[in-house]
Amino acid sequence: MRLEPDRLTLHLQDLLAPEAATRFETALAAREARQPVSQITGTRLFWGRSFRVTRDVLDPRPETETLIETALETPFASLLDLGTGSGAILLTLLAERPAARGLGTDLSPEALAVAEGNAQALGLAGRARFQTADWFAGVEGQFDLIVSNPPYIAEAEMAGLSPEVRDWEPHLALTPGGDGLDAYRAIAAAAPAHLAPGGRLLVEIGPTQGQAVSALFAAAGLSGLRVEADLDGRDRVVLACRG
Ligand SMILES: C[S@@+](CC[C@H](N)C(=O)[O-])C[C@H]1O[C@@H](n2cnc3c(N)ncnc32)[C@H](O)[C@@H]1O
Repeated sequence: MRLEPDRLTLHLQDLLAPEAATRFETALAAREARQPVSQITGTRLFWGRSFRVTRDVLDPRPETETLIETALETPFASLLDLGTGSGAILLTLLAERPAARGLGTDLSPEALAVAEGNAQALGLAGRARFQTADWFAGVEGQFDLIVSNPPYIAEAEMAGLSPEVRDWEPHLALTPGGDGLDAYRAIAAAAPAHLAPGGRLLVEIGPTQGQAVSALFAAAGLSGLRVEADLDGRDRVVLACRG
C-alpha cells in the first residue's frame, strides 16, 4: 500500500487498490518460493540504517554487528572492507566515524553497484571508494583498519543450508569451497603489508573457525589475537594487529 507501518491502522477500512493487491500477491508468491523478505522488500536495517538488498548481495546479518562494535573500539582514519557486498560494514563504519575514508572491494561488480548506490543514499559517496578486486589483488596502500566478512561456509555444509540462503543468496558470498578457510588464507597472506603500523585486522568467522583463523593470522606475523563472541555467545570475530 506504500504506507509507513505506523500509518497502516488508519487505512485498514480502505478498499485495497488492485495494484496494491497484485503487489501483495506477487510478494506472497515470492515468499512461498522461499525468497528472503529483505530481497522482496529490497531493504534491510543494519546498525540502525537502511541498506538496499538485491539478489547480488548477501543480506546483512545481525551477527555482523559484533564486528562493527569491535571495530569502533579504537579510532581509525583509513579503512578497507574486503568483500563489501551491500557495503553494510564499510558504510556503517564511515557513518559512525565522520572523519574516516574507506575503500570497499568485491569480486562481484554487481555487488559493488549495490554498495555504490547505498553509499549515495546514505550521503557517504564522498568518503567511500569502490574497486573490483580478488581480495588484495590490485589494492594499493596501507590502512588503519582492515575488515572483512568473507564467504566462510565449507562446501560440505552448503546442502544443509535453508532454501532462503542456499537458493537465493549469491553462491560467491556464501562459500569459498573446500574447508571454508580459503578467504582467510588469502587475507592472512597479504594483510600485514597493507596494515599501517599498529593497524588492526578484523574478520567475521563461523562459530567453529576461531582457532583455525587465529592460527593463520599468527603464522602471518600478526599479534594481539582475540576472538569475540556474538550476542548468541558464539565465536564471531577474530581481531589481530600489526606489531
Ligand atoms: C559473506 S559476503 C559479505 C558481504 C558484506 N560485507 C556483509 O557483511 O554483509 C562475502 C562477500 O565477499 C565477496 N567475495 C567472494 N569472493 C571474493 C574474492 N575472491 N575477492 C573479493 N571479494 C569476494 C562476495 O561477492 C560477497 O560480497
